[in-house]
Amino acid sequence: MAGKISGRVLLVVDGAAVLVHTLEFLRQARQHGLKVRVFPTASALLFQSITAWAAYSGQPCRDFESLTEEDLQAADVRLAAPASGRLLQLLLQNDQTASCPWLLAPALLPEDKPEEMQQLFAPLLQEHHKLLLPSSDDVSDLGAMGKLSLASPGRCLEAILAELIPQELAGVRVLLTVGPTIEDIDPVRFISNRSTGRMGQALALAAARRGALVTMIHGPLADPVADHPNIRPLAVRSAQEMYDATLAEIGHTQVAILCAAVADFTPNTYAEEKIKKQGAEGMRLLLRRTPDILATIGQQEKRPFLVGFAAESNDLELNARHKLQSKHCDILCANDIREPGCGFAVRTNRITMFFPDGEKEELPMLSKDEAAERICAQIARRWEK
Ligand code: CTP
Repeated sequence: MAGKISGRVLLVVDGAAVLVHTLEFLRQARQHGLKVRVFPTASALLFQSITAWAAYSGQPCRDFESLTEEDLQAADVRLAAPASGRLLQLLLQNDQTASCPWLLAPALLPEDKPEEMQQLFAPLLQEHHKLLLPSSDDVSDLGAMGKLSLASPGRCLEAILAELIPQELAGVRVLLTVGPTIEDIDPVRFISNRSTGRMGQALALAAARRGALVTMIHGPLADPVADHPNIRPLAVRSAQEMYDATLAEIGHTQVAILCAAVADFTPNTYAEEKIKKQGAEGMRLLLRRTPDILATIGQQEKRPFLVGFAAESNDLELNARHKLQSKHCDILCANDIREPGCGFAVRTNRITMFFPDGEKEELPMLSKDEAAERICAQIARRWEK
């Protein structure tokens, strides 16, 4: 879970999709620390009572009919999701409060065309209005009540976070390498490592939420791929594939964060057929070095702002400073893998950031999401635009 974000959200809900959409939205929004006040319309109240909405949101609840100008003024962001066409029209025609954004997520029928909806409402939209239209896979099945197409709870939440989080990296093209690589021995066996990709995925989300356009080149991940409109995931398998994909993208990258646990060695040859043991007591596996992606980029004359990682078991500062220099990084993030709660396959990390000017920032033990936010804050501060 990300660090808590303070923000007051006014949420108008309408129609049958509240059951599948709003409960999940409220769960995610509360996890982020947002205060959401729900104003259900009469049709939403057919599905849940005022008391139930108050319990789900953890905030006082009144019906939409009693919404006042004061309520509208008290919010940092306003969201109507799900919203019928009729509700949208009503909200847009009576909107006197341009002081904060109105995000509008219409509930469409699966056969409706989002572009037509955009055209229909375009004449009514002002600068602080944003239509959140569903993508092709945002279809909610309401059983006997049919199907609805609606921007997912996660997409609505990201749209809100984009309004609340300072867009320090707006439009910056960021490349990330994430997760482990897999080095195949034969069709059955491989060499890999314990990386889950969690630190990298947290960094991808933290950068995307600050407005960066993120290309995430990743090996196999323990969690689902981070879903954000600013993240473009590219799946690879081996160190060589990660190297090729990264070098193909690096020319138009402004900030590169190389967080992947790239295998340092790969089998010399790949056996097309499964290797049989044939009664042998042991076997010899010949390995060769993989290309070092970070070092290769560091040597480029016109290189992006470069962030590297180091997992150390001893002499953290000495080794980290050596890597910072030898791989020409602008920031090197190091952690001590011997410390409990640090490094692979855990959800926390204690990172120290080292900088070429001799400075360092020691972070306390944090969730990987919080650590990612602190690293992105340093990137925004130190990166010369
Ligand atoms: N890295 C890379 N390509 C590789 C190996 C590592 O891009 N083939 C990157 C990692 O993503 C990370 C940093 O380099 O940002 C880690 O540096 P490295 O010197 O490989 O660290 P260790 O593997 O810890 O090295 P050593 O075993 O020498 O300590």
